Amino acid sequence: MTTTEIMRAIYKEIDQLPPIPENIAHLRKLIKNPKSSISQISDLVREDVGFSANILKVANSAWNKLRSPAETIDRAITIIGLQRLSSILLTMGAKKVLKDRFTTLKTLWKHSYACAFFAQNLMKRQTKSKEKIESAYLAGLLHDIGKFVILSLSPNLLDKIDQLSDAKGVSIISLEKEVLGLSHAEIGQKLALKWKFPAFLVTAIGLHHNPTQAPQVEEDIPMIYTTYLANVLCELKEPATECIKVIEPKVLEYFRIVEEEDFNDLLVSLIDAYQISPEIQFV
Ligand SMILES: [Fe+2]
Ligand SMILES: [Fe+2]
Repeated sequence: MTTTEIMRAIYKEIDQLPPIPENIAHLRKLIKNPKSSISQISDLVREDVGFSANILKVANSAWNKLRSPAETIDRAITIIGLQRLSSILLTMGAKKVLKDRFTTLKTLWKHSYACAFFAQNLMKRQTKSKEKIESAYLAGLLHDIGKFVILSLSPNLLDKIDQLSDAKGVSIISLEKEVLGLSHAEIGQKLALKWKFPAFLVTAIGLHHNPTQAPQVEEDIPMIYTTYLANVLCELKEPATECIKVIEPKVLEYFRIVEEEDFNDLLVSLIDAYQISPEIQFV
């Protein structure tokens, strides 16, 4: 296949994808509405066995450190919090659509959960806004959704691109553009637009490898930089001394990383936190 043919195939795949399931979109609207009550939300959650099971699983994983487990959906929602619930629902929706159609790799989701954890902790260093912290978590979870489309075209292609990138010292994004005509970040951005994700998420997905590239709305910058850095930190292959050299200077400056020591401290604290409380992975 030529690059143009591959590009056409990618656009076709995105076009043919179904929307995020209606009940998820409806639940997220209900959560967003300040007039909604927990019981209204939990009634709707209970209608879907899959949601209910996952929400209890997440609530009880956070609750483990305390004592009594959440036995009702109401209680589970109170423990998780409405904003986190909304992120979980959107991710479950995206995961379901992708899973029905594409090969979904457990390793890729594992990376996404780690990235979400890092992103939320990085954002916590910059702001106390719960909404922004939650948004960073969501951006970390969904930043690589474009990769699933590539996986569906050729299951080994991502690995090959990864190996070639290491061998040639060329970025994955450049190689993807050369071979496919589009990078996984661009594909992810198109998916995010199709699924009417919030604007900050569309931008963060699209720029998670090139945070300083496109013209940006000033207020999107924290989310873009956070998703980018969380992803870099999750993918560290080189010793920290080498990594710091390839991170965008503007991002280092934003996170007040001046010396190698600052970078090491940040990395160690994130990895320690992740090992103590890795996020529960919901299906
Ligand atoms: Fe990526
Ligand atoms: Fe990633």
